[in-house]
Amino acid sequence: MNKSIDMCTLSLFLLMLIIAVLVAVLAGPDSPLTWSLAGMVVLIPIVRRKYMDRKRIDWMDEYSVGIESIDEQHKKLINLINTLQTIVDYTTSEESERECLAAVVDYTKTHFVYEEELMRKYGYPDFEAHKAQHQKMIDKVNDLLAAYEKNPKSAMKDALDFLKQWLIRHINGTDKQYSEFLLSKGAH
Ligand SMILES: [Fe+2]
Ligand SMILES: [Fe+2]
Repeated sequence: MNKSIDMCTLSLFLLMLIIAVLVAVLAGPDSPLTWSLAGMVVLIPIVRRKYMDRKRIDWMDEYSVGIESIDEQHKKLINLINTLQTIVDYTTSEESERECLAAVVDYTKTHFVYEEELMRKYGYPDFEAHKAQHQKMIDKVNDLLAAYEKNPKSAMKDALDFLKQWLIRHINGTDKQYSEFLLSKGAH
């Protein structure tokens, strides 16, 4: 279902529910049906909001790699992905969706270059393996961008799922492996 139709359907349903509550209040203010309908009017937006919030990534201290500059970049990446999720869920403009997706991809590449420069500068022993993981991720993102051109809706869902899962797994796994080494060399 198109997301503008989706939002419209929900708004219409809530409007009908509010009308039903008003009619029920007039017919019998003390009826359990009146209170049930009123409860639904309050609960539906709350449940929907909670469902939408579950799609977001929240930064947690355990994601820290101990290097401030890299933590800041990881936080910015998470914020960009959350912004993209919000645009996908609430905005009907394909242009803003494309712009935000491009910003996520661009900043991911910028971050990889920064990390790789730091690893190279300090002679990190697993540099090549780490760089290969970055390249693999960029290849996958390029595949998703090509799929997006053919079928924006389904490809965007795949792209968001992939970006969220990959980012957290990479930060908590591969990125954390360089922490001790880079910190011992004075990275900050
Ligand atoms: Fe990273
Ligand atoms: Fe990395």
